[in-house]
Amino acid sequence: MVRWVSLALIVATVPCSLASSSAANIEPRDTNEAFSPPYYPAPNGGWVSNWAEAYQKAQNVVRNLTLAEKVNLTTGTGIFMGPCAGQTGSVPRLGIPNLCLHDSPLGVRNTDHNTAFPPGITVGATFDKDLMYERGVALGEEARGKGVNVLLGPSVGPMGRKPRGGRNWEGFGFDPALQGIAAAGTIRGMQSTGAIACIKHLVGNEQEMHRMSSVVTQGYSSNIDDRTLHEFYLWPFAEGVRAEVGSVMIAYNDVNKSACSQNSKLINGILKDELGFQGFVVTDWLAHLGGVSSALAGLDMSMPGDGAIPLFGGSYWGPELSRSILNETVPVERLNDMVTRILAVWFKMGQDQDYPLPNFSSNTEDETGLLYPGAVISPVGVVNQYVNVQGNHNTTARAVARDAITLLKNEENLLPLSRNDSLKIFGTDAGADPQGLNSCADKGCNRGVLTMGWGSGTSKLPYLITPQDAISNISSTAEFYIKDTFPSSVEANDEDIAIVFINSDSGENFITVDGNPGDRKASGLYAWHNGDDLVKAAAEKFSQVVVVIHTVGPLILEEWIDLDPVKAVLIAHLPGQEAGYSLTDILFGDYSPSGHLPYTIPYDESNYPESVGLLQQPFGQIQDDYTEGLYIDYRHFLKEEINPRYPFGHGLSYTTFEYSNPSISKVTPLDTEYPPSRPEKGPTPTYPTTIPPASEAAWPDNFNRIWRYIYPYLDNPSSITNTSSSNTYLYPDGYSTTPNPPPRAGGAEGGNPALWDVAFSIEVTVTNTGSRPGRAVAQLYVQLPDSVGLDTPSRQLRQFEKTKVLEAGESEVLGMDVTRKDLSIWDVEMQDWKSAPWGKGVKVFVGESVLDLRVLCEADGGCNTL
Ligand code: NOJ
Repeated sequence: MVRWVSLALIVATVPCSLASSSAANIEPRDTNEAFSPPYYPAPNGGWVSNWAEAYQKAQNVVRNLTLAEKVNLTTGTGIFMGPCAGQTGSVPRLGIPNLCLHDSPLGVRNTDHNTAFPPGITVGATFDKDLMYERGVALGEEARGKGVNVLLGPSVGPMGRKPRGGRNWEGFGFDPALQGIAAAGTIRGMQSTGAIACIKHLVGNEQEMHRMSSVVTQGYSSNIDDRTLHEFYLWPFAEGVRAEVGSVMIAYNDVNKSACSQNSKLINGILKDELGFQGFVVTDWLAHLGGVSSALAGLDMSMPGDGAIPLFGGSYWGPELSRSILNETVPVERLNDMVTRILAVWFKMGQDQDYPLPNFSSNTEDETGLLYPGAVISPVGVVNQYVNVQGNHNTTARAVARDAITLLKNEENLLPLSRNDSLKIFGTDAGADPQGLNSCADKGCNRGVLTMGWGSGTSKLPYLITPQDAISNISSTAEFYIKDTFPSSVEANDEDIAIVFINSDSGENFITVDGNPGDRKASGLYAWHNGDDLVKAAAEKFSQVVVVIHTVGPLILEEWIDLDPVKAVLIAHLPGQEAGYSLTDILFGDYSPSGHLPYTIPYDESNYPESVGLLQQPFGQIQDDYTEGLYIDYRHFLKEEINPRYPFGHGLSYTTFEYSNPSISKVTPLDTEYPPSRPEKGPTPTYPTTIPPASEAAWPDNFNRIWRYIYPYLDNPSSITNTSSSNTYLYPDGYSTTPNPPPRAGGAEGGNPALWDVAFSIEVTVTNTGSRPGRAVAQLYVQLPDSVGLDTPSRQLRQFEKTKVLEAGESEVLGMDVTRKDLSIWDVEMQDWKSAPWGKGVKVFVGESVLDLRVLCEADGGCNTL
């Protein structure tokens, strides 16, 4: 057996490679059935016309690359072997630099002079497509300014299946359409600057604990049935691919018992064939588990390049990928496709034209330092140039944080405050971290105002405007009690208003904070630092209490929400660096709140299905069965007729809105159940299939090696012989080199383009009927008829639009389109999207939350206000 293959087989998820090939699609309902069928070979990229020019340029280069140069572009140089979270090798001869891949979805991580934007959950709560795009542009500009080729975001997985899940806040909310629209806007914005976006994590990374496989443990398997996968978890990825995302990051966990990084059905079948993804697929960090297996399954890039044990200089690819080409276990076509995909993205974004090299180091704040810290003995040089990339992005950051703030209740119109109200402010969440700005790495602590969760999805705060700073700017009499215990000595007068700040944090599994290993294991869905007690104590003393909550996700409010003094509650989500000003913009009425909940707030955690709890088990692989299917968040509450405390989409304003004159018009007739046939695939680049000369993988003469650095070279490569036919590598069952027939649901980026045919257009007039200016969010939910033949959630968000700021009495007509896909279910037999013919029986609701519906339109009738 080839040396590296044996390791691959031990460590890799054997079921993927040894599975029988009988089933045609992913179809588990429980653990015993969970199975991911083989899908080989990997489809080549380049068949979509939009990418033809970029692929042509890539092809011209790839034709001239040596084996080692090709391999260099597929494999990271090793963890801590450069300035970024990961970097590929380079081809200096042709001006192709090491490509820098770096976090995060909310700003450039671990650097200086950057903007710390609000994270995804806050962006989702704005329901503002323009801001989604604008923030994407700003993120791209900062990535470019720092020399980051691939910014590792947006995140749309996790999707919020588990309310306690640690990284839900990195994504945009607990609904696939919200995630998809926000991700597509972000990607378009980012990539308009030339930075490459990386949508992540495909797929089922819904829990932080036990996500990773290694030599000693196996990550959990997310067992997802085909329909749920398509209609829920894959949905935002499809929108991201349609927005031409340049790269996709594969999740740590298994899906249906096959590790995502070598799951051929997932990468080859679904992502590259059905969704028509033209970019490159990269591992999550150290999620590479097998060399040949992953190459055959469609992986294109290994990050940060290390093998089973990081920092030992070993890799599943690098020299071993060179070996597998020379011994012919991995077809040379596959390597050519990997490199062509990577370079096509690079050309498509224009990174061949004056794209900056990294000018920062995520390893140190010093100006000079080790160029390859992981090598210990390394050349030293200037690593930080402290380039300021902030531009005027603080305006965007503030607008996102402000327009996300969600007013849950406002009795007696206590808000907005006036500038001379007598204010008493409680809670450490109103203030600064007493240990200093960025006092803990990757935000792995919860001190002071909570601006983001923790882990790789963070960036350093360049500065922070706390609520305390911003309130004291406006009110000269406000008194601050920046503590988590209620001061018994505080005086309360009748006119006093108490503002209590509380929070709830979570993050990535490599850091545990207060007993929470990423997921909210210890805290549950309750406020940290005795926040609930603080509110109750304030409510005992004061007759007017405002609660401000900074939170990663749903929180149980029951201990105090109905107390008489608690008049107003704001969820300020995770605001980033502009925490204070964005809040005072709302508190003092310069703007009306216009954020809406991107998730449901329940009365109790037991309101959720049992299957979405956190899972732990001492031995063996955790089987996480998605038995609840599509019934996540509000879909579940509706089905089980559970009244939530606050429904998905809820958010009050200082004014009120009326919906009138709704209309529906048919655009493209849904005259067939299934979409018209897909377009044919265009041509893909072709290359000679001859095995390159072994000398191309030999160490160059007099080469100065850096210890532990991952190179593509081999000792004595000419001794390698063809082993592909001598049974030394056990190919997965179902392995084949004959291309599959093109999937009928495919045809372009995202899938069959007819899926986005507009079936119906809805228009509705929104009028500000109150006395203050404000913005409304019209949310469009669809209900499919029984004739689609399957149990389907009774409402599903498919679109939304936000008005401009409407003055009192002012109106705006909002238009929203409903596509064929919006009205379809995934037919697992046909492997295609099936809609209700002519839209018969389809109901379209428009409202201010999933439970506050204002308009009903019937596809085969007219519209009414409700
Ligand atoms: C692991 C995280 O899961 C991923 O989101 C991140 O981009 C990489 N680490 C790189 O830091």
